[in-house]
Amino acid sequence: MPHPRRRAIATLAALATVAALPPIVAAPPATAGTPAAYPDSRLPVRERVDDLLGRMTLEEKIGQMAQAERVAIDGDRDQITKLGLGSVLSGGGSVPASNTPKGWADMVDAYQSKALATRLKIPLLYGVDSVHGHNNLIGATIFPHNLAMGATRDPGLVREQQQITAMETRATGPQWAFAPCVCVVRDLRWGRTYESYGEEPGLVIQMETGIEGFQGRRKSDLARPRHVLATAKHFAGDGDTKFGSSTTGTFTIDQGVTVTDRRTFGKIDLAPYVPAVRKYGVGSIMPSFSSVDWTEDGVGNPVKMSASRELLTDVLKRKIGFGGFLISDWSAVHQIPGDYATQVRTAVNAGMDMFMEPHTAPRFVRTLLAEVDAGRVKTSRIDDAVRRILKAKFELGLFEHPYTDRRYAGTIGSPRHRAVARRAVAASQVLLKNSGRALPLERNEKIYVAGVSADDIGNQAGGWTVTWQGSSGDTIPGTTILDGIRQNSSHVSYSPDASAPMAGHDVGIVVIGERPYAEGAGDVGNGHTLNLSAADRANIDRVCGAIRTCVVLDVAGRPQIVTDRLPAMDALVMSWLPGSEGAGVADVLFGKRPFTGRLPVTWPRSEDQEPTNIGDRDYDPLFPYGHGLRTHARPRTR
Ligand code: GLC
Repeated sequence: MPHPRRRAIATLAALATVAALPPIVAAPPATAGTPAAYPDSRLPVRERVDDLLGRMTLEEKIGQMAQAERVAIDGDRDQITKLGLGSVLSGGGSVPASNTPKGWADMVDAYQSKALATRLKIPLLYGVDSVHGHNNLIGATIFPHNLAMGATRDPGLVREQQQITAMETRATGPQWAFAPCVCVVRDLRWGRTYESYGEEPGLVIQMETGIEGFQGRRKSDLARPRHVLATAKHFAGDGDTKFGSSTTGTFTIDQGVTVTDRRTFGKIDLAPYVPAVRKYGVGSIMPSFSSVDWTEDGVGNPVKMSASRELLTDVLKRKIGFGGFLISDWSAVHQIPGDYATQVRTAVNAGMDMFMEPHTAPRFVRTLLAEVDAGRVKTSRIDDAVRRILKAKFELGLFEHPYTDRRYAGTIGSPRHRAVARRAVAASQVLLKNSGRALPLERNEKIYVAGVSADDIGNQAGGWTVTWQGSSGDTIPGTTILDGIRQNSSHVSYSPDASAPMAGHDVGIVVIGERPYAEGAGDVGNGHTLNLSAADRANIDRVCGAIRTCVVLDVAGRPQIVTDRLPAMDALVMSWLPGSEGAGVADVLFGKRPFTGRLPVTWPRSEDQEPTNIGDRDYDPLFPYGHGLRTHARPRTR
């Protein structure tokens, strides 16, 4: 019998040896010995999911529930294999070194090869915010933002837009778009106003044809290289939060609290999710950063959407019947009260299935594993989450074709795609005022153009364009509004600050509006206002005070307060954020296409009139929801 001391050392040594071993992975489940059925694409998805799930260890299951940002794993791509990561994302502006279709596809395929190196070879889902085209990619067709698409009142056009977006996205690798936002914007002071299709839930629902554009009409379409998984976001009430209720950084309303009763919440905020699930079969849904505070329960107890079992499981999954998976927003679970283990446990038990943990995926995996081992999260909940995730991967055909099918890469930014975007720009223009028939313009009129956003493609594209916040300048290929005007007239003078002489011009066009922003960075009170900038006021005063006919274009994510200067204008057009095809604005200015757009939101007289929405008592806006003057297209001249 060895000496007690020596025995103690031997024991410690033995323990040390064990500790040095890789983490003990529980033995694969019983089905491990039977031939795997899940690779057989002839089997029904449900059978494939059951077979694969039955072969997975708890660690492998939890790995599938984790999503990391590409930057976090780019330095050590083997993390994908070690953790068995279910997904990787590109956040806004997170692009490969070579921001080209090839650069994207090579990057996504490199990550995919790491996922296929895992024991069960479960392919990776790659997600991006293709919210107005494949907008991270330079050269992609960039469509008008959603609020402009709401102004078109054309569901078919929105479907076509998202078909193009899906094709251009999937041809570069990502199989999953974090779009469409089916938020119902109720207060224009929200920095994400332009991401909404409008203030009326019925209009938002009309535009959900976009989900069909993304995913296709039939289940089998999802596996084709021209479709992607869609995400209805942000569930729910993200656009209906109370001004001043946000506690996130310097935001004033974004990620705030929706103070409401369940009936109103159901009518306004929840309504778009019913058809998104039941009519279009949306594959994923992203809960909102925001909270809900039920007035009938006595306000003062806001619950984060990511923590709401009532809404994520009881209402969305059970009552509405959502069979896809829930993806958390960017580190959103970290906003749930409590320590990290509490946050993770609360969100999983509320019904969250996959966790966007951009830089904390390994910590998430370890924490959830510990919560399951401690019995605070049931394995049945884990199995439900992983079942939903695997179902999407099988339906996307990733087990058969895990790597990028690049056949449609040549269509990216093609003339045909851009023509559709240009048509969308024209259809989205809303003519608010047109006294003296200022519009459409005559080709022989001498035109004076003022305003920096007349010739700034970055401003007209807005946020979520190449970078997260977007930026002014020559950021993407396409046409500016001035390019379009010059295509229609050879008598054009351009003076950004209206300092050039104006004599001899028949028409003055003043372009006003906002610089790019995204999310809470665009909240009123967070460096932004709905009121005109001094430069815009000066340009209107100079041009409308000197030239016979004065036309004002508002290039912004939301209507600006123009009340005091409206009398000086002969015509006012809301141009929204048109994206890469600014020439579409000139198509209606010169009568090549008729003005048909209608306001998707109420246009207030003043900023403090917000929130003001159709149906409100004492409704007295500058222009009501649905307003829009029509003109006729000029007969084509030979
Ligand atoms: C952002 C947004 C969400 C987006 C996600 C990934 O914070 O809230 O809309 O899909 O992060 O970029």
